[in-house]
Formats: sequence, structure tokens, C-alpha cells
Amino acid sequence: MTVPPAPIAVALDAPDLEVAARWATLVTPHVSTVKVGLELYLRYGPDVVASVRGASGVQVFLDLKLHDIPATVAGAARAVARLRPAFLTVHAAGGPAMIRAAAEAAPETTIAAVTVLTSLSDDDLDAVGLTGGSPEAVRRLAALAVEAGAGALVCSPREVAAVRAEVGPDVTLITPGVRPPGTGTQDQARVATPEAALEAGADLLVIGRPITGAADPGAAAAGIAAALRRTAAGAS
Ligand code: C5P
Repeated sequence: MTVPPAPIAVALDAPDLEVAARWATLVTPHVSTVKVGLELYLRYGPDVVASVRGASGVQVFLDLKLHDIPATVAGAARAVARLRPAFLTVHAAGGPAMIRAAAEAAPETTIAAVTVLTSLSDDDLDAVGLTGGSPEAVRRLAALAVEAGAGALVCSPREVAAVRAEVGPDVTLITPGVRPPGTGTQDQARVATPEAALEAGADLLVIGRPITGAADPGAAAAGIAAALRRTAAGAS
């Protein structure tokens, strides 16, 4: 019996392409998605997508966090659409016209809007003019992004239940800051276990260092995937 891959996007935050491709090969039997971020993409260019996808057919999450005027974002989204990423990130703060432009330019790709970066404190948000605290900003930006055509939202595990209540069941909620019990938090301040993130309403968990920093990334991915299947079986 084949086991469906777990709803995990492994963040391939590798210093070079060979390492990223090796991690991808090790984890793709167990997870649905691999995530390519700005560092890898800017260093190696579009070819990085084919390198990490390999022959596996794994979904690629292109985390470029686009934020510019609508015409420029449309051009950028069109340029990467030919790479067939399953997800492409934009900043929700770019506004509805920009999000709509991205969605129209890459119709086969789900546009994932980043609401508020989890690195920003409420003081930081005040300083850039987003008053009212992060829950309010997240809620407002989530609603705006979905209305403009974003099919997915990136939010912290702590926000996921409130965002789900705001946008309903049909939007894919993607959460970074996921840490299995017993692993270090590194620089993530607000973390949740994979099981808790799914129970709160997340659809896709972004997990990087707990998998890629393990001695055996394939075994680490398989272990988390098995724990998630147990949770899902218990819930049904
Ligand atoms: O290694 P770790 O599991 O912390 O990796 C998390 C990934 O999610 C990184 O690629 C990071 O850039 C990304 N991310 C995040 N927090 C956000 C948005 C993206 O950690 N709010």
C-alpha cells in the first residue's frame, strides 16, 4: 500500500544547490512539497526548481515574497509560472490590485499571501504605520488577500485558528514556525508542534531545520509524516 505524502513543505534553505537537491531527494518520498526561498533562487536562478524537483514530481513552493507595483509583479509571476510552482508567495501589503495581478498572471499556481512577517513585533508594526497590533493586521490583510484572489495564506501557527475563522474552509493555510517535540526552536519565537498546527487548522506545514539539520533528513521527514498520520487517524 502506498502512503500519501504528508502535508509538509520542507524549507530547502541550503547554502548551495547540490545540498538542496540532496535534501529534496531524501525527503520527497515522505512530503508533498519542497520550498525554495530567495537565497537559493537568487544564487542559482530558475534552474533551481528543476534541480530540486528532480524526477519526483514533488510540488514546488516558490517563496519569493513579491512586492511591487501590479504590472511588475504580474511580469514576475508570468516569468516564474513556466516553472510550474504549486505556490508562489507575495506580500499581502502590496494591496489587492497587486495580488490580483499575480493570480491572473500565474493561473495554474496558487498565490500565497504573506500577511505580517512573524519577525515583526507590535512596536515594529506601529513604526511602519500598521497600528492596532498584529492580530488585527493579520486579519485585515488575510481578508483582503483572499478577496483579491490569493488561494493560500502564510501565517504563524498561533494565528491560524483566527485566520481560518476569517477566511473560511477553502483557503490553504500555510504555517512556518513548526517544531516537533524535543527539537530546538532556533530563531523561531512562536512555535507549535506539527500536530497542534494541523489541529488548529493549518493545511501545509513549512518545516526546515528540524528536517534538514537532522543527521538523516529522510528519516526525520518520515518520522514527522508518521506522527501526522497518527494524529489524522485519531481525529477521524
Ligand atoms: O528552519 P525553519 O523550520 O525555521 O524554516 C522555516 C522556513 O519558513 C524558512 O524558510 C523561513 O524563511 C520561512 N518563514 C518563516 N516565518 C515566516 C515566513 C517564512 O520562518 N513568517
